[in-house]
Amino acid sequence: MPSKRFLLKKLMHQPSARTRILKERLTEPLHLNAAALVVAAFGSFRAKVAWDLMMRPHYAYGLLEAADQAREAGLDSFTAIEFGVAAGEGLLNLCKLADEVRAETGIKVRIAGFDAGQGMPPPVDWRDHPETFSAGDFPMDVDGLKARLPSNCRLIIGPVSETVPEFLANELNASAPIGFVAFDLDYYSSTKQALAIFDDVDAAKYLFLPVLYFDDIVLPNYSSWAGELLAIDEFNQEHAMRKIQQYRFLRSRRIFKNARWIDQIFLLHLFDHPRLTVPHQRRHMQNVYLNQLNPS
Ligand SMILES: C[S@@+](CC[C@H](N)C(=O)[O-])C[C@H]1O[C@@H](n2cnc3c(N)ncnc32)[C@H](O)[C@@H]1O
Repeated sequence: MPSKRFLLKKLMHQPSARTRILKERLTEPLHLNAAALVVAAFGSFRAKVAWDLMMRPHYAYGLLEAADQAREAGLDSFTAIEFGVAAGEGLLNLCKLADEVRAETGIKVRIAGFDAGQGMPPPVDWRDHPETFSAGDFPMDVDGLKARLPSNCRLIIGPVSETVPEFLANELNASAPIGFVAFDLDYYSSTKQALAIFDDVDAAKYLFLPVLYFDDIVLPNYSSWAGELLAIDEFNQEHAMRKIQQYRFLRSRRIFKNARWIDQIFLLHLFDHPRLTVPHQRRHMQNVYLNQLNPS
């Protein structure tokens, strides 16, 4: 089981991840942790996602949600994107999870990873958090990573200010609309450029409610006046018919409530999506009291 080996390696070698995961899990009820062990041993992929038993549970959650939406829309595939690839651990993890999502749902996932390929560009100004990141951070072995990628994954190298418009113009189409996007470009300036991925005039190139994950919103020095959160605010100001908002009440839908990633999941609301114009069957409401009084 490579993913179990990988999880153990991560827990051994990344003290901050280990402390966080232990804190999150050990503060959950004992009976849920006991039940999770049973799910880990015998559960389906879907059950393991529900019980946060995957590496990068946020990627697993986003992919599975998008696959369910794609199936409901009568599609057989969707596109998932990682912005910011670096050494490629996240992208390879996304590819592996996409295989499992396909086995579970029958929906194929087209994957694109975007990166400059030479480490971080220089920060533009204070809004890029130069106290945390600087030019050249996160160098990558582009050829080595490309050699490891499966055929459904493309690594797109270059500044996102150039590669995103090219991707929209030449690659994205409505047969595999965007369903899940992970943003991990660290900077305000880069995230603002990457959010142009939601600018295509044809709303059918997106699922009805794409799931978004924002990595760089968790440190105490992050705020709405810099970094990813500022890029989101500006996107919302600049787009009348498309808005990004944190997934309100996701916590109430999850079994384990303390997982940090829950607060990092956002949704793209497309008020110009063709789904809004599809007529649907008239809806009815039950009234159990009336049914009790007048049993038919
Ligand atoms: C933190 S790393 C990504 C880590 C990766 N998501 C993971 O989990 O393994 C951030 C990456 O964003 C890339 N990046 C930042 N700004 C960029 C830009 N304007 N265009 C393309 N790539 C950029 C950097 O090259 C860097 O590799």
